[in-house]
Amino acid sequence: MKGVILHGGHGTRLRPLTHTGPKQLIPVANKPMSQYALEDLRDSGVNDIAIVVGDSLSNKVQNYYKNGQEFGVRTTYIHQKQPNGIAHAISLAEDFVGDSPFIVYLGDNLLKGKIAEFVKVFKESNFDAMILLCKVKNPQRFGVAKFDKSGNLLELVEKPKEPPSNYALTGIYFLKPIIFKIIKGLKPSWRGELEITEALQGLLDSGHPIGYKFVTGWWKDTGTVEDILEANRLVLDDIKKEAEGIIEENTSIQGRVTIGKETIIRRGALIRGPAIIGRSTVVEKHVFVGPYTSIGNNVKIKRGEIENSIIMDGCQIEINGKITDSLIGAGTTLTTNQRSPKGCRLVVGENSRIVL
Ligand code: TTP
Repeated sequence: MKGVILHGGHGTRLRPLTHTGPKQLIPVANKPMSQYALEDLRDSGVNDIAIVVGDSLSNKVQNYYKNGQEFGVRTTYIHQKQPNGIAHAISLAEDFVGDSPFIVYLGDNLLKGKIAEFVKVFKESNFDAMILLCKVKNPQRFGVAKFDKSGNLLELVEKPKEPPSNYALTGIYFLKPIIFKIIKGLKPSWRGELEITEALQGLLDSGHPIGYKFVTGWWKDTGTVEDILEANRLVLDDIKKEAEGIIEENTSIQGRVTIGKETIIRRGALIRGPAIIGRSTVVEKHVFVGPYTSIGNNVKIKRGEIENSIIMDGCQIEINGKITDSLIGAGTTLTTNQRSPKGCRLVVGENSRIVL
């Protein structure tokens, strides 16, 4: 069994973060989203993994995963020149896959339950494809499964106005090479992409059986800032209490908080979990880090309060107020100007989103 992680796409909904790197490298609980996919594949015995990267900033993906050895896998990189759709990205893996069954994992999908048991089911089945479905409250946003009365899969409908069920198609697809033939017959959809739902529908229509399983636990598809913050909360809900750094006397660490090596928490700081703080970070006195916050490596928080946010590596923060529900990109400096009490001074890149 081989693995294919999709690491391309437009990432328009996550600008400006996606101007400087692919969205799948955005950290959730201090780990790039696509690393969860890679580790899930590896832990299911899938060690030969192709990563389909987009045209811009793909070097960041290669610099991070390199040949995969550090992560216990072997990686191959495939370039998708333009984001022409998930099915298009899959089609580029034809030579890599050869005649092996394979698993496609969208690099921005997180699954609590892991896929090991599903890999076993697929290996032992005669299915030409198997999909994972998750019960959702808002099926209109997803590809949705339609069943007959006996529970047979009849149809997959993309973003239906009137959903035939509450079961959404997750971004983890168990496939066999027959899918490449079907994708070759696809036409671009109204949004100019080759759609995975249409490829799967093509399989069904040509009489190839598709199996399905329901995921246990949560599944998160992280297209937006809100989705990423929710994924961060879901992962932090399972975080361990573990402190490796230097915690000075008279600090208050409440609940489950993970603190990395060489990090210093100064006296008078209050950290309320669930939260994670990376390596070589400094949290100065009287800083408050609230629940559901992930703070990366080499961050300096001199003053301020932070809650329900992701602060990436190398940031410096010295503010009078509170940051909440925020994604702060790596290397950002956030300060408050003491001498301008009315209004804020902003230096912000294109397509940013600011809520003051
Ligand atoms: P989407 O989130 O559906 O699309 P997108 O990445 O273009 O984002 P946006 O809608 O905000 O512009 O993509 C789902 C996953 O598939 C994601 O991990 C990116 C990946 N993908 C590719 O690798 N190649 C592609 O051509 C497309 C469209 C997506």
